[in-house]
Amino acid sequence: MFMMNYFDYSATTPISDRVNEVMQRCERDFFANINAKHEMALQSKLFVTGYINRMIQALNISESSLVFTSGATESNNMILFGLAKSYPGKRHILTTSLEHHSMISPLGILQKEGYDIEFIPYLNGELDLEVLKNSIRHDTLLVSVIAVESETGMIHPLKKIKAICDEHQIPLHSDVTQAIGKTEIDFQDVTYASFSSHKIYGPKGIGACIIQKQDIKPLIVGGGSLSKLRAGTPPNALIVGFAQALIDSLEHLHERQTLVNQRYQYLVEQVSSLDQIHINQPKHGVKNICNLSIAKSKRNQTIEKLSLYGCFASASSACSGQEDLSKAVFNITQNQDYASTSIRVSLSHMTKLEEIDALVEGIKKVINT
Ligand SMILES: Cc1ncc(COP(=O)(O)O)c(C=O)c1O
Repeated sequence: MFMMNYFDYSATTPISDRVNEVMQRCERDFFANINAKHEMALQSKLFVTGYINRMIQALNISESSLVFTSGATESNNMILFGLAKSYPGKRHILTTSLEHHSMISPLGILQKEGYDIEFIPYLNGELDLEVLKNSIRHDTLLVSVIAVESETGMIHPLKKIKAICDEHQIPLHSDVTQAIGKTEIDFQDVTYASFSSHKIYGPKGIGACIIQKQDIKPLIVGGGSLSKLRAGTPPNALIVGFAQALIDSLEHLHERQTLVNQRYQYLVEQVSSLDQIHINQPKHGVKNICNLSIAKSKRNQTIEKLSLYGCFASASSACSGQEDLSKAVFNITQNQDYASTSIRVSLSHMTKLEEIDALVEGIKKVINT
């Protein structure tokens, strides 16, 4: 039988049984349009808002700051373009070169429209906060820094960045898609945040923005919704599934982290005896991502070979295309060889040790072919 060993949890996750159950119940019994006025709609609204309230509590944010979107891509677009619409005179944005494509692409559009997009440099693999401090201008619209970088799992210090932004009264946005449910996040450390459900064992097709300063103009306008910032009939089952997944990921954060750490250590122990392997480990990183380079084996070829051996990892973030060199790996290693031979192994609390054994066997075959 063809073995299927999944190591791409940072690209997407399966929905959990609990999420599946609550979504099915919602589709069966509480599917009415929650903006309608009849009894079934009221019952549906009660059911859905119950989950939303628990999600708000788990995130420790105010009710008005949560806006549902179709995913983190839409959330990132909404914050960038929505803010740009609100402050047409502010045309300078400070960000990092390691943002996800759903940030880099809209930033590229703004740049073509004349915005000055400045990338904060890294010093010894860490964001240079002195440069950030000195780069803020009177026309800076936003500082945007991804919380956890998608390829190496590097954690950015949001608290310190927010303190700098506060000193200059500049809002801070963070794409927390790879951080939520993996590491602690205090939403007081950001003005705006974006995240997605399908990275935390929730359904695909839903995400959210946290908007703590209500100054963003909507991009999608139309009829009845949960928020003035994003029109459209609320997708009841997606919302409750997302809420349940989010609550579970925060309630079980430490438990899941412990299991993931054990799996990370197990993998590192197995591969570190192999001369051809280099672990690309950031100074501060989440342990659900293990980025490793296999000497002389190009990243996309490694992924194809591993796939033939029944092990599914990725060369980089799924949306980043087929780049030959990993910017994120180069940033922490300053080594072209490591950056052109790196793969991302993303782990889950559900990953079995036997799956890791299969991966290590696959890696040995890659080395020997
Ligand atoms: C950091 C980051 N931001 C944004 C996204 C896009 O999320 P979505 O698929 O929900 O649009 C991803 C998904 O790969 C991601 O890893």
